[in-house]
Amino acid sequence: MTEGPSLIRGLEGVVAAETRLCDLDGKNGRLAYGGYDIDELARHAAFEEVAYLLWHGELPRPAELAELKSALAAARQIPGDLSQGFRLMPRATDPMRALQAAVAILGMHDPDATDNSQAANRRKAARLTSQLATAICAHHRARSGKEPIPPSTDLSHAANFLYMLTGERPSAVIAKAFDASLTLYAEHEMNASTFTTRVITSTQSDLHSAVAGGVGALKGPLHGGAGEAVMRTLMEIGEVANVDAFSDQALATKRRLMGFGHRVYKAGDPRAAILRGMAEEACRQSGQFKWYEMAVKLHARINAAKGLIPNVDFYSAPLFYSLGIPVDLFTPVIAAGRIAGWTANIIEQHDDNRLIRPRGEYTGPGRRPWFPIDKR
Ligand code: SDX
Repeated sequence: MTEGPSLIRGLEGVVAAETRLCDLDGKNGRLAYGGYDIDELARHAAFEEVAYLLWHGELPRPAELAELKSALAAARQIPGDLSQGFRLMPRATDPMRALQAAVAILGMHDPDATDNSQAANRRKAARLTSQLATAICAHHRARSGKEPIPPSTDLSHAANFLYMLTGERPSAVIAKAFDASLTLYAEHEMNASTFTTRVITSTQSDLHSAVAGGVGALKGPLHGGAGEAVMRTLMEIGEVANVDAFSDQALATKRRLMGFGHRVYKAGDPRAAILRGMAEEACRQSGQFKWYEMAVKLHARINAAKGLIPNVDFYSAPLFYSLGIPVDLFTPVIAAGRIAGWTANIIEQHDDNRLIRPRGEYTGPGRRPWFPIDKR
């Protein structure tokens, strides 16, 4: 038996670290990064400003923002052996598995790979944020049998992502919606993937190793994989007229509906409210309004029946779909936002580190004698 506090399943409610990055008020459904309300940041800040805020603790002044933007633009290329690697991967490779491999390969090339100093980690955070976007798009092009689209040098981080994915320079409205999505996904306190990066960092391992772990955690359908699952649910329903019958069936069979519920938010996920408005606009603009209508109707039915709230992944699904993002790239897109928060937490963990090592409650058999195999 272990001494000390008893088992807390899923570490629910356990405070594992102090952090200056994210203030998450689950009771009142409020969220802020570094003291700035998420609604303000999503409306007014570019993703580059939010990344700078997370890495440095303050919003950038003009010269600092310009310096970050040029560092991000300079780091958009990925090594040739990574592009080659994408061409050699099985075409059906899950994009999140390809991304995890890509992070490891990028670590092989990063000049600061084993330097855990704050300055080196900030450099790596910016480089990897940029390279991750290129890697996601380059893998998608390779698995589609196409050549990668070289990154632009003049577009914003968000607009360049969409350009590398589609080959078209996005409109200002679409680029802003995608930019705000990256901000909304950038950071979220001690979620499973961020906590994973902290555990790996606490052993004094390096940033790329920690991010590769975070990618693995985000892949799961209970976490980042939920967005893709929401879109597949909407596609399964097919039409607005089918929502009631689907809801009745799902409730009757106690089906776990992706995009609903949250470990911390009980009064509503503030990001979902913002994404709902963006999804309405984007679905209308793209002539695919039915996905938004279906989501709203499903939300109302499930909330009325079970009191479950939609989380960040519920309305980002129709939004991403209307922006032309392939469904199995939804989770990599979430990673393209969360890389800012993962790396900020890695920096913070290194700055005030203690090995993260909880206990296990033993429930196996008591002590017993050994018997050689011929006596068993
Ligand atoms: C993200 O932690 C973060 O911050 C994550 C995230 C971030 O930004 O990093 O916000 C991003 O991961 C959002 C969540 C995405 N995942 C999903 O949408 C998957 C579906 N949601 C659930 O599996 C669930 O709500 C969790 C995993 C999100 C939270 O689960 P908890 O806190 O462990 O709650 P639970 O599973 O114990 O559920 C409590 C009750 C249960 O009822 P009982 O069995 O006790 O009667 O609520 C029910 C559950 O059955 N319930 C659901 C449900 N979620 C909870 N029932 C049906 N469908 C659901 N989605």
